[in-house]
Amino acid sequence: MSLLSLTGVRREVPLPDGSVLPVLTGVDLDVAPGEHVAVVGRSGSGKSTLLNILGLLDTPTAGAYLLDGEPTDRLRARRRARLRGEVFGFVFQQFNLLPRRTAAENVAAPLLYARGRAFLTRGRAAREVLDRVGLGARADQVPERLSGGEQQRVAIARALVRRPRVVLADEPTGALDVETGARVMALLTEITAETGAALVTITHDLSVAALAGRRYRLEAGLLAPLDAPADLHAATAARTGTGLVGTGQVGAVPPGEAPA
Ligand SMILES: Nc1ncnc2c1ncn2[C@@H]1O[C@H](COP(=O)(O)OP(=O)(O)OP(=O)(O)O)[C@@H](O)[C@H]1O
Ligand SMILES: [Mg+2]
Repeated sequence: MSLLSLTGVRREVPLPDGSVLPVLTGVDLDVAPGEHVAVVGRSGSGKSTLLNILGLLDTPTAGAYLLDGEPTDRLRARRRARLRGEVFGFVFQQFNLLPRRTAAENVAAPLLYARGRAFLTRGRAAREVLDRVGLGARADQVPERLSGGEQQRVAIARALVRRPRVVLADEPTGALDVETGARVMALLTEITAETGAALVTITHDLSVAALAGRRYRLEAGLLAPLDAPADLHAATAARTGTGLVGTGQVGAVPPGEAPA
């Protein structure tokens, strides 16, 4: 069974003049546990809208979204919020860290609403995951003392601290230079593979998409498979000056991933 399953998902937004803007017009997407899927598309094509629907931050106008086989359209607000926090970890382009909190406090923040042991041990949990992203020594710094790449690693640690089953990343390298972005992405791919979390990455960077086991393009409100390994390889080589990891495995099933 798919972990996430969208069928015929539409999302329309009402415009001030009374008309509606069709953002998603019939999206089908299945994501299995542990799988890494990338979605590319132009600015305004609806990528964030799609990711927000997957993360229960937005709801489809029509169509079905099943989470663990359960329809999400009738979830009550409280259960929806709980599932959002338990199942998903979010990484955004602009890091979204709390400026006056240390790295460790930022990473522990999602556990402030946890109960029992998870709440009591949040400080230790935060430090463990900061260690994992290579920032154990910077745990007590505030974000402005950290580089962009380091801030995004803090954001990744925050996304992982509740051990989500799915990490949703919206342009995670969008605010980073090419080389830092490639390193951050490699780390995110590696850690999610290690923890068995599925990873859905939204990007307009083909070299970032090349790291995923499956790739799609969002265009005219629809998802189409993106299957041009040669293009991906060329884009990657052009941007990084190397053939990046992952491009040799295009079409292969990554470890731990069930064949579609
Ligand atoms: N609440 C809203 N009200 C009006 N228009 C909206 C709303 N949400 C999204 N849109 C429009 O829907 C379209 C898709 O937006 P979305 O943010 O999903 O695009 P995107 O692919 O993530 O773009 P970018 O790459 O620039 O982040 C855009 O034209 C946007 O202006
Ligand atoms: Mg967006």
